[in-house]
Amino acid sequence: MERRDGMIAVFDSGVGGISVLRQLVRQMPNENFLYFGDSANAPYGSRSTEEIRRLTLQNVEKLYRRGLKALVIACNTATSAAIDTLRQTYPQEIIVGIEPAVKLAAERFPHGRIAVMATEATLREQKFNTLVHTYDGEEEIIPVPCPELVKFVERGETHSENLMCYLHSRLDLLLARGLDGIVLGCTHFPFVRDAIAEVAGERVALLDGGEGTARETCRRIRAANLQNPPGKGTVLLENSLSTPQMLAQMHRMLADF
Ligand code: DGL
Repeated sequence: MERRDGMIAVFDSGVGGISVLRQLVRQMPNENFLYFGDSANAPYGSRSTEEIRRLTLQNVEKLYRRGLKALVIACNTATSAAIDTLRQTYPQEIIVGIEPAVKLAAERFPHGRIAVMATEATLREQKFNTLVHTYDGEEEIIPVPCPELVKFVERGETHSENLMCYLHSRLDLLLARGLDGIVLGCTHFPFVRDAIAEVAGERVALLDGGEGTARETCRRIRAANLQNPPGKGTVLLENSLSTPQMLAQMHRMLADF
């Protein structure tokens, strides 16, 4: 099989990466995408770095056996723990990761106060801390670990009283002191964007890295001259938790987002 005919695999610890997949499909409608979510092992964000790396490598190895032209790690947590190892393991491959959109937020709000909602693992990893050091001082970057939020999205609970209570518990104190922007530093969180916006109010901007990641993937595919000719692309959704309910939820998330 020619490399150009391979699929673009999109990997996440669960269903969250569908927020990135959606942007990828928008920007590259002719491509064939294979989405794989590891919901049986989610959340990754409260696991050790070694565990996250092992699970990511295991899943990616299986994806490569299916014939890929590119791999998108649509998970901030897996990117921070495993992207360097992945690039060492597959040096010839196009591998794109995602990181919290701190740069975007800092450009938009110079000297601003910016909260970054993400998993515990993303916030403790060196990648995030290097990113913060680049901007902190000029901008105030405030990490907000939100481990429970991933679980809400995994079970499809995107509007509920419990969810609102949780968001208030994470954000109210920060909002009282004033915030310019909130970075959604986990690919699950765009699915609860409306609920976060309701808590944060309309004057606080919500930013995520999905669109930028899709743009970068598109740029890399074009640079390698691997783009599909015009025609209808396809999307395959798979999950390690392959119950009919989970698959239906994933299709709904892709259609409704
Ligand atoms: N979607 C993942 C991210 O962007 C994390 C979810 C998890 O903790 O498994 O960080």
